[in-house]
Amino acid sequence: MDYKVSIIGAGMTGSTTAHWLADKEIADIVLVDIVEGMPQGKALDLLEAMPVIGKDVNIIGGNEYQITSDSDIVVITAGLPRKPGMSRDDLLAANAQIIREATQNAIRYSPEAIFVVLTNPLDVMAYLTMKVAGIPAQRVVGQAGILDSARMRAFVAMELGVSVENVHCYVLGGHGDEMVPLTRQSNVAGVPLNEILPADRLAAIVERTRKGGGEIVSLLKTGSAFYAPAIAVAQMVEAILKDKHLIVPAAAYLNGEYGMQGIFFGVPVQLGRTGVEKIIEYQLTDEEMAAFSKSAQGVKENIAKLNL
Ligand code: NAI
Ligand code: 2OP
Repeated sequence: MDYKVSIIGAGMTGSTTAHWLADKEIADIVLVDIVEGMPQGKALDLLEAMPVIGKDVNIIGGNEYQITSDSDIVVITAGLPRKPGMSRDDLLAANAQIIREATQNAIRYSPEAIFVVLTNPLDVMAYLTMKVAGIPAQRVVGQAGILDSARMRAFVAMELGVSVENVHCYVLGGHGDEMVPLTRQSNVAGVPLNEILPADRLAAIVERTRKGGGEIVSLLKTGSAFYAPAIAVAQMVEAILKDKHLIVPAAAYLNGEYGMQGIFFGVPVQLGRTGVEKIIEYQLTDEEMAAFSKSAQGVKENIAKLNL
């Protein structure tokens, strides 16, 4: 294939991302993990599925970064997931160490790569990736908004009994419980959500969206969501490799947009072959802006804890 995507961390989200990506047949795939044999085994298993679905994708796995050489995109999913009772922020110290190591190794072998980060706490880990890699902000993007928005879309579609394809939701802000589901901009086939849903039902959907990650953690008990996060990453990778100029909610570095400076934060971004091509700025009400600021405060506090 013309393109190569390396996924660092071959656990639940990493291997599921490989699965969705292989099905898209857009790039050869490399899985890297510290656990010996595991990335090799998962890669081989997935490779052996390719004849059945008729996709000519090469998939390899290993424990050394050499096999990631000259990747077009590096996806980082390495790190600890939440257990019941934990917040994403509880993962900060352990995952910061893992992100440092993964990024240093990956950038050495793929100096031109675009980094798509998934590891939590997401906005802070995307920031750390940019700093450690020492690359322009345009080449680092974090996945959160597609997932959070997809959750909200699924809940609205269930509530109204309409196709998920008709439901458009925009969840922005930091990837934590203070994320900002923008109900005013969300709609069902063009009809604003607040015209189609009673206020109490809309409020319940907003609350369930905010707690969506925790809902899955409390059901799974041993880890966090992986199918929906992984397809969200795969959509971003596809948008970049195909130079689609696709606008999605994702964590990007803000340099004055939305009145914020020096943090990664969930905003509508346009993705293309150079990474983050553009940040789209919505006109927000005072109330929406206040919710943004509250969410950003948590991200800023965690970035400060990195002592960079
Ligand atoms: P997992 O535990 O299934 O997989 C993580 C993998 O990382 C493990 O296989 C582990 O061996 C590997 N790993 C640990 N240290 C490493 C290192 N130094 N180098 C390479 N690999 C290393 O966890 P899962 O479910 O895949 O989640 C991964 C991360 O993604 C977590 O931090 C989780 O919170 C986050 N996440 C973020 C989401 C988002 O929307 N931003 C959604 C879902 C998960
Ligand atoms: C989620 O929202 C764990 O952040 C991850 O499912």
